[in-house]
Amino acid sequence: MTDRRLLLVNGPNLNLLGTRQPEIYGATTLPEIEQAVSTLAAEFGFEVRAVQSNHEGAIVDAVQAARADCAGIIINPAAYSHTSVAIADALSAVELPVVEVHLSNIHRREAFRHHSYVSAVAETVIAGAGPAGYEYAVRYLASRLPK
Ligand code: DQA
Repeated sequence: MTDRRLLLVNGPNLNLLGTRQPEIYGATTLPEIEQAVSTLAAEFGFEVRAVQSNHEGAIVDAVQAARADCAGIIINPAAYSHTSVAIADALSAVELPVVEVHLSNIHRREAFRHHSYVSAVAETVIAGAGPAGYEYAVRYLASRLPK
């Protein structure tokens, strides 16, 4: 465990942010979100490891690796929120504070998006705040983790 590093994970299709259904997900790109998270986290003395993957196993691997050198995890598991016991299990296994972020309010959308396996293992869930949700997640972890 490293005191001052956060893992930021974005799941499948979030690499397309900015062009993907902007009426739902907005115009901000993933590099812009990652940069904003890193800049804000630095104000609190954290560095950020940003990972995006379209592959469930790669996300499990990134979460497992965080156990060794991260203090907390911010994750938008995207569609895997609704399907992946494996990602939820990995998040439980690492025993780090987890903030689950969704750009959209999944509870206002199709019924299949209303359940997230990750919510059961997340300390905090932020949905519907757009890209600002990631910044709220940084602020939460900065206040939650030891100074
Ligand atoms: C999402 C919501 C998910 O239901 C969807 O599959 C995504 C993005 C969000 O950020 O709003 O890919 O996680």
